[in-house]
Amino acid sequence: MKEHRGRLTKDGIRIYEQSDFAGMLAAGALAARILDDIADHVFVGQTTGAIDGLITQMVEDAGAESATIGYKGYQHASCISVNHVVCHGIPGEKKLKDGDILNIDVTVIVDGWFGDTSRMYVAGKLPRKAERLIQVTHDALFKGIDMVKPGNTFGDIGHAIQAYVEAHRMSVVRDFCGHGLGRVFHAPPNVLHYGRPGTGAVLEEGMFFTIEPMVNLGRPETKTLADDWTAVTRDKSLSAQFEHSVGVTTDGVEIFTLSPGGKYHPTYSS
Ligand code: MF3
Ligand code: CO
Ligand code: CO
Repeated sequence: MKEHRGRLTKDGIRIYEQSDFAGMLAAGALAARILDDIADHVFVGQTTGAIDGLITQMVEDAGAESATIGYKGYQHASCISVNHVVCHGIPGEKKLKDGDILNIDVTVIVDGWFGDTSRMYVAGKLPRKAERLIQVTHDALFKGIDMVKPGNTFGDIGHAIQAYVEAHRMSVVRDFCGHGLGRVFHAPPNVLHYGRPGTGAVLEEGMFFTIEPMVNLGRPETKTLADDWTAVTRDKSLSAQFEHSVGVTTDGVEIFTLSPGGKYHPTYSS
C-alpha cells in the first residue's frame, strides 16, 4: 500500500506535517555528511568511479539506502559531473586532472525519507574562471533559498536565481530543474531556476523540494550523450551546480542538507 501523508494542493504539491520535518532532516544530514566526508578523496589521479565506490560504502555504513541505485536503471550511488558536464555524469574509470571541477550529487533514503544534495569540488588547483563560476552558482542557490517562505511563489525563486546569474554574465540551464521530494524522490512541482516574480504555485508551509541551479559560463543549451544520462553544455563551456533539499516553515525555510562541517567551497579539502 502506498503511504499518503498530509494533503495535496490544487497544483498537486504535497503538504507534509510538522512532525515530518525531522525525517527530512535526518535524511538530508546524512547526504550532507557524505558530501563533507568525500572531500578528502577528491584529488588529481583519482577516478570518479572510486569516489562513487566510497559513497556507496558510506551509505551502507550509515544503514541507509541509495536512492539512485536502480532508479530508472541508473547503477551508481552518485552522479559525478566533471567540467562541461552539466549533470547526471556517470562515475567511471576516467582520472581527475589538475584543475578539473566536479559536482558530486548524492541522494539517500533514511527511514523512507529522501535527502538530495550536491556540491562542487576541485582536483588540484582551482582555475580563476572556475572559482568565479562556482561562487556565483552557490550564491545563486542562496538567492533562491532566500525567497522560500509562505506566500511567495516558485516564480519568485526562479527569478531571483536567474537575475543573479545573468547579472554576472553567466547563464541558467533550462533543461533540468529542482523537484518536490519527501517520501518520494521526484514529485511535483518542477522547480525552475528562471522565471518571473509572482508566477507559478504559491509556497505553503509543509512543502518539501529541492533547488539545484546549474549555471554555465557560456550558453545555456545542453545535450545528452549516447549513454542517455550524461548532460553536457552544447558549447563545451564549464558548468557548475549546487543543490539543497528544503522545507517551507511557518515563516521561512529549513535547509535539510546543510553541511555539518560548514563546508561548501571546493577548496576546503586542499
Ligand atoms: N540527484 C539527482 C537530482 O538532483 C537525480 C539523479 S537521478 C540518477 O534530482 F539516476 F541520475 F541518479
Ligand atoms: Co534533486
Ligand atoms: Co541531486
